[in-house]
Amino acid sequence: KNIAIIMGGYSSEYQISLKSGNVVYNTLNKIKYNAYRIHIFKDKWVFVNDMDEEFPVDKNDFSVMVNETRITFDCVFNAIHGSPGEDGFMQGYFELIGMPHTSCNMYQAALTFNKRDLLASLKPYGIKTAESFYLNLGDAIDEDAIVAKVGLPCFVKANKAGSSFGISKVYKKENLKSAIENSFKEDNEIIIEQFLDGVEVSVGVISYNGETKVLPITEIVSENDFFDYAAKYEGKSQEITPARISKDYEEKTRTMAKKIYEVLGMTGFSRSEFIFKNDEPYLLEMNTVPGLTNESILPQQAHEAGISMENLFHNAIEEALK
Ligand code: DAL
Ligand code: MG
Repeated sequence: KNIAIIMGGYSSEYQISLKSGNVVYNTLNKIKYNAYRIHIFKDKWVFVNDMDEEFPVDKNDFSVMVNETRITFDCVFNAIHGSPGEDGFMQGYFELIGMPHTSCNMYQAALTFNKRDLLASLKPYGIKTAESFYLNLGDAIDEDAIVAKVGLPCFVKANKAGSSFGISKVYKKENLKSAIENSFKEDNEIIIEQFLDGVEVSVGVISYNGETKVLPITEIVSENDFFDYAAKYEGKSQEITPARISKDYEEKTRTMAKKIYEVLGMTGFSRSEFIFKNDEPYLLEMNTVPGLTNESILPQQAHEAGISMENLFHNAIEEALK
């Protein structure tokens, strides 16, 4: 089968996406697939061959002409973190042209990529979330009102971004403004959250052989002040799978992660982050195109569950083609 691996994207996460995409490419090449790397950038959508030659994608049907031969694809493997791969745009396009793809559907992607809307829509199901304060670009910034609602320290986050781009932990009221300005570089909506002081865990949930499968839980121990970009990608954190948490914590987290996946009608990959407070997991966010690099968490969780990278990616394609 011909598989188009889409990678790159329009956000700050494009370099991580290229890494994830190349891992998928090398893995699919080892098994029975004909894999093609498709770079999706604002100024070009191109197939890139092993000689780094580029061939434009025909957006009418997502095919590519290579030396008089038209290549069409059976399935798209989505490795774009952030926009337009994780927020519903590519999903909507593929759904319109009838192209199977490995991620969740357009609506689920758009909803889950928006931290504010994800958390709000899960609250009625009993999913706990941190106290929060929202700002849109141009809103007046009332530091006293923010601190009264979320306390200090607090987290200032871009509402729609990944890999900790646009996130700061703020200890002093006078530093709120610059943190807010920093977040507005990534998105025109931001979310300011109460700091939850507890164990942080990451939970992968996938559709596997037709069933919702919760992967072994990862505990995140950051050497930095929080699980920021350097902690994620420059080795400044320990990711411990399986997490060193009690059976009770494990059971609560697994149950909640599965419930979220099913309530939202998810398909494909997902990885959600929780922090424990008063013995309950609080949901921070969800990633539907989680990192697939060798340092990434979800592949480590799959490995711990006895699922090889080959098996994980093969299953994703099989699920997409159902
Ligand atoms: N947003 C990054 C790629 C992750 O969730 O792994
Ligand atoms: Mg994320």
